[in-house]
Amino acid sequence: MNRADNHILVIFGASGDLTYRKLIPAVFDLYKQNLLPEKFAVLGAGRTEFSNDKFRDKMKDGIKKFSNFKEDDENNIDDFLKHITYIALDTENQEDFKKLKVHLETLDNNLDTKGNIIYYLSTPPSLYGVIPTLLGEVGLNNNTNGSRKKLIVEKPFGYDLESALELNKKLSKYFKEEQIYRIDHYLGKETVQNILVTRFSNGIFEPLWNRNYVHHVEITSVENIGIENRGGYYDSSGALRDMVQNHLLQLTGLIAMEPPSSFDSNSLRNEIVKVFQSFRPFSEKDILKNSIRGQYTAATIRGEKVSGYREEKGVKKDSRTESYFAMKLFIDNWRWGGVPFYIRTGKRMPTKVTEVVIHFKQTPHFLFSKTDAANSCNQLILRIQPDEGVLFKIGMKVPGQGFDIQNVNMDFHYSDLSNTYLPTAYERLLYDCMIGDSTLYQRADAVEAAWKFVDPILNAWKNNEKIPIYGYPAGTWGPEKADNLIEEKDMTWRHPCKNLAEDGIYCEL
Ligand code: BG6
Repeated sequence: MNRADNHILVIFGASGDLTYRKLIPAVFDLYKQNLLPEKFAVLGAGRTEFSNDKFRDKMKDGIKKFSNFKEDDENNIDDFLKHITYIALDTENQEDFKKLKVHLETLDNNLDTKGNIIYYLSTPPSLYGVIPTLLGEVGLNNNTNGSRKKLIVEKPFGYDLESALELNKKLSKYFKEEQIYRIDHYLGKETVQNILVTRFSNGIFEPLWNRNYVHHVEITSVENIGIENRGGYYDSSGALRDMVQNHLLQLTGLIAMEPPSSFDSNSLRNEIVKVFQSFRPFSEKDILKNSIRGQYTAATIRGEKVSGYREEKGVKKDSRTESYFAMKLFIDNWRWGGVPFYIRTGKRMPTKVTEVVIHFKQTPHFLFSKTDAANSCNQLILRIQPDEGVLFKIGMKVPGQGFDIQNVNMDFHYSDLSNTYLPTAYERLLYDCMIGDSTLYQRADAVEAAWKFVDPILNAWKNNEKIPIYGYPAGTWGPEKADNLIEEKDMTWRHPCKNLAEDGIYCEL
């Protein structure tokens, strides 16, 4: 892999958790692998006052806790930290942006970064429109003299379709689409990218990957943690906005898309948008029939009492925000006509796991006796996390008299690869942005199409109090009602863990 051209990375919202836990550890990981430009600087910007040293101390702590190279020699970390400085500024004040400009010009001259700057918006979303406007007003947006200015925007991108359109409009005033990198960290995950490789580098899957052979697709992304200290944000967001509109629809896009004509950013993203545009819209009747929302209630998990959602800090006592969401979705196109996609996400589930399961159809005529025929068809399981890997389930004759069949697994675990380094999602995405590759970032039309699908559900919840929200005890697999979404006789959601460890953290493929 090549090193990117010299760059300055400016992180707005640098005093926040994302910078500490993900961004700086990811930049350090790139540094360790010699993937950062020869000359680079990271400038943290935010309202909080920090001296350079104080900021570096905090970042050092983040590296030691969250980097892939956390055990690294202290001197190496200190050398890396010399590239980091901090500037306190009022992110809504033009005068401060003028000062920022002077500061950046000095850095640029000293380092010969040729005006290449990445601005990373890791602030509260209310500033996503404000900061790019101020950057534009002081002239920090233009690709003058061959320089490259790029803008990375964290999720959530908008709160609904209207606000996403509004934000895209604001950004486009000063930044061209090719300068804007809308991040969805799921696209940065190795195992998510492996969906593309599984599908498009193996000839055997393509003929099967359609309504003729696929019975249904299941996408699960659940967590055992609750909303932690994010009650304020989460209560005005909920599972549908927080996980489905972005991460899970992106996964659906990669599973359902047509093969792109080439692997350049626009060909791939064109195909994803087409999937989003083919989602069958939910009417109010569909919302009642084909979706379920839930909220966790207080429970004791392995001897430990955990609060219910409404008791969490920052959450309204009568909140109707969903911490669980499941739906049955149809993609109305030739490949997928009639194939249900079951999607679910939730907080305070028994474990943390993300996986995609392709359930193939039963053979046309079943010759052998089976006790659980419906749930024992061939399955291809793409485990995104944890215990990353791929598993294929096939029926096999049980040795002995008669023709008894048992489902066995052919599996691959990333952990079996020796000497393989799994980069984190932010590492991959930051590197891609530096080299100007936006393939794994979301384009404006995709974000808008995803909101267009989700909006009617959000509106129906807002306008119709009668749409139920079901409770589920913390530590369980969600409201029982969600089982009824899968209407086929004897079929259930796949139970993703063979044996869940006592602490509920490890979920074996
Ligand atoms: C974030 C959501 O985008 O993704 C969080 O805001 C969620 O609520 C997180 O916990 C899950 O990401 P990952 O990579 O841990 O699956």
